[in-house]
Parts: sequence; C-alpha cells; structure tokens
Amino acid sequence: MAGPAVRVTGLGKRFRLYHQRNQTLKQVLVHRGRGRYEDFWAVRDASFEVPVGATLGIIGENGSGKSTLLRCIAGILVADQGSVHVDGRLAALLEVGAGFHPEYSGRENIYLNGALLGLPRRYIRRVFDDIVGFAELDRFIDNPVKTYSSGMYVRLGFSIAVHLDPDILVVDEVLAVGDAAFQRRCMDRISQFRSEGRTLIFVSHGLESVRETCDTAIWLDGGRMREMGAVEPVLGQYVAEVNAREAIRLELETRARPPLPGGRAGVGVTGIRFIGPDGPATVFRTGDPFAVEISYESPQPLTGPRFFVGFVREDGVTVLTVPTDDSELEEAVLPARGVVRLAMPALPLLDGLFQVTVGIAEIRTEEWYTLLDRVYAFRVVTDQRPERGVALLGQRWELPELAPAPVRA
Ligand SMILES: Nc1ncnc2c1ncn2[C@@H]1O[C@H](COP(=O)(O)OP(=O)(O)O)[C@@H](O)[C@H]1O
Ligand SMILES: [Mg+2]
Repeated sequence: MAGPAVRVTGLGKRFRLYHQRNQTLKQVLVHRGRGRYEDFWAVRDASFEVPVGATLGIIGENGSGKSTLLRCIAGILVADQGSVHVDGRLAALLEVGAGFHPEYSGRENIYLNGALLGLPRRYIRRVFDDIVGFAELDRFIDNPVKTYSSGMYVRLGFSIAVHLDPDILVVDEVLAVGDAAFQRRCMDRISQFRSEGRTLIFVSHGLESVRETCDTAIWLDGGRMREMGAVEPVLGQYVAEVNAREAIRLELETRARPPLPGGRAGVGVTGIRFIGPDGPATVFRTGDPFAVEISYESPQPLTGPRFFVGFVREDGVTVLTVPTDDSELEEAVLPARGVVRLAMPALPLLDGLFQVTVGIAEIRTEEWYTLLDRVYAFRVVTDQRPERGVALLGQRWELPELAPAPVRA
C-alpha cells in the first residue's frame, strides 16, 4: 500500500515578535543584552495525513495559521518542530507573486518554475502556449513580471501550477484576487485536477468553494487543529462557532453604543431590536420569521408620522428601503410612546451582514424628526440552500410535465 501524499507530524512554526525599537541611547544601554522579543507559535502540534488523491480544505479565521501551515508543506518555511513529508511533485500557489523573479519576464519565469519542479525544458516548451493562454497573458508574456497587476500574477501563478503536472497542488486564498470568470475557470480546473486523482490542499475564505472542492477539512484555530474530518461536519462546526462569536460581537457593540440621539421637536427613537423565532437576536437564518422593532418617544401624541427602515448590505448595496404607508398614517395620532414593528414572515435575505437605517418623519412637512443612518447590524446565515446573491425573490421553477419514472420489473 502506498503511503500518503503528505504527512505532517507534530508540526510547529514559531515567529519571533520584536517589541518596539528602543529610541534613545539611554534605553539602548539599559536594555542591552536583554530580550526585546517574544516567540509566538503560528502553528502548533499539527499532525495529519493527506492520502493520495484526497482533497483537503483548511479553514479558520484570519491569523489562524493557514498560510503558515501551507508554506511549511510547500517547503518555503522550515518547521521549528515536527516534520513534513511530501511524496510526489508539489506545486504551490501561495501569496501573490511568490515564486516569481520580478526582473524576469513571464516567459522566463515559466521556465524557471518548471526547472524548480525538475521538469525538462522540452516538457515546458510543449505546455508553454497552454500556460500563457489559460493565464490570458499573450501580449504581456515578454514583459518583466514586476510590471504585472496582482490579477496577472495570480493568473500566471495558477496557470503554471496546474500545467506543470504536479501530483500535489497547494493553493492559498490568492484566487480571490482574480475576476469572477477567472475564478470559475480555476475552480473548473481544480475539479478536473481532482477527478484525475491528484492530491489537493486548498485554503479559501469562501466556504462554498471549500465545500465544492474538498472531501475533508481541517479547522485551524489559533494555530491549533480544532477539528478534522469530512468536510460537511467540520464546516458546520466552524460556521456555528463563527456565528456565535459574531453574535457576541454585535451584542457587545450594541451595549457599548452611546444612547440614541434625540430628534427634532423631541421626537426620537429610543431603541431598535431585531426579533427572530426565539426573541431578540443578532444572527438569523434565511427563512426565519424576522422583525425590526422600533421604540419611539415623543413629548406629545405623534400626529401623522412616517416610519422608515432601510437595509444596506455591508458591501454598500441598498437592499430595501421601506416607509410606512402615508395614506394610512396621515390622519393618525399615535401614543406619545410606543413600539412599531416591520415584520417579515420569512426572512428572504441570503448570507451577509446587514446594516439598518431607521427614521421617523412628519408627513405634513416632509421633514425628518430623526434619521439614524446604519446604526445597527445583524447577520444572516444561509444553511444548505442552493441560491446565491442578496435575497430570495419568491422565485419558482416551472418545469414541463415530468414523465413518470418507468416501473421496474
Ligand atoms: N513572517 C512572519 N513573521 C511574524 N509573524 C508572522 C509571519 N507570518 C505570519 N505571522 C503571524 O502568524 C499568524 C498566522 O498567520 P497566517 O498563517 O498568515 O494566518 P492565516 O493564513 O490563517 O490568516 C498571524 O498571527 C500572523 O501575524
Ligand atoms: Mg493566509
């Protein structure tokens, strides 16, 4: 039985963090000879095997050690503890521009990379056009790579990595730098690579692409392996924890917020809450019952008000703005204190962080009493649904009459 493609045993990688430089001669003399740094383990006690033909995703928050682990596997960093054993030819696509010589042209770098992988020149000559074509760099291939944009670097790096016939491909998050069409082509290429029975180790921020690409996953947390196993349960546990941390963060932010400012004529919003199926919350699932609850206060009964709620996704997309119906409230007199709710029986929003703007205006004068721009936020999580984008739109597929399944004898 052949051994694994990659075996990592008790791997640890330490970085030395230097404290602020001493500024004055006196401080230099005083501190002379003493350590002004501390050691910090970016990866600790990592042990796992990647069987030949397996696809492993590595997930974890920023700074959890994913890139450091990949660089140890790729042999770019030397571990301080433990060992890495690689069986087969390994090509790595790590940070943007890594593995390129900036003064050399794209063409020269292709040959250089091939030589580093131990491939004969004639092999590289044969795949050269494919590499350049896939990277869409025909016109630029004789320019020095230091003149390339980060997108061009990544296209070339990925194209080289997949065309140089590696047994093991290691890809860090860099693909996110490319445009959507190129990312798609990379993912297709990675699936092809996988179907050829090659071994893949893949780090991505996009959990969807990890789910699509990988059979198994490792969750790194503070440099240590939290979970390892089949991709679905590991992603599930990771997402649950990230959501819980996010809920705590939003909760703390809300508590630390200064009191809401009073509005014109003493009419103001005194509180905003998001209500889910189990009461007030900050993280919701697509399809949950959802409401925004606005408490207001006014020195006297409120005549002819217009309430307003707007939802803005964190990338700035205005998803929806909803005023109350003027014809309904124009003549109305509301109590001096009260709560209004904007309710949705099933939250249609898909994954994302949404900020909420809330306002109260006077219909007669068209003037705001108060407008609180994006003061609160909530997170939406979409579990196991095939749709992508901003929101569900009440969509429905209508299909031709499906023939009944043939009856089996
Ligand atoms: N060359 C380095 N020198 C010092 N610290 C580093 C170096 N590279 C990474 N780190 C630190 O190691 C930790 C893990 O980093 P990294 O592996 O890049 O995490 P990730 O890829 O999961 O975001 C971080 O705290 C990072 O600041
Ligand atoms: Mg990284």
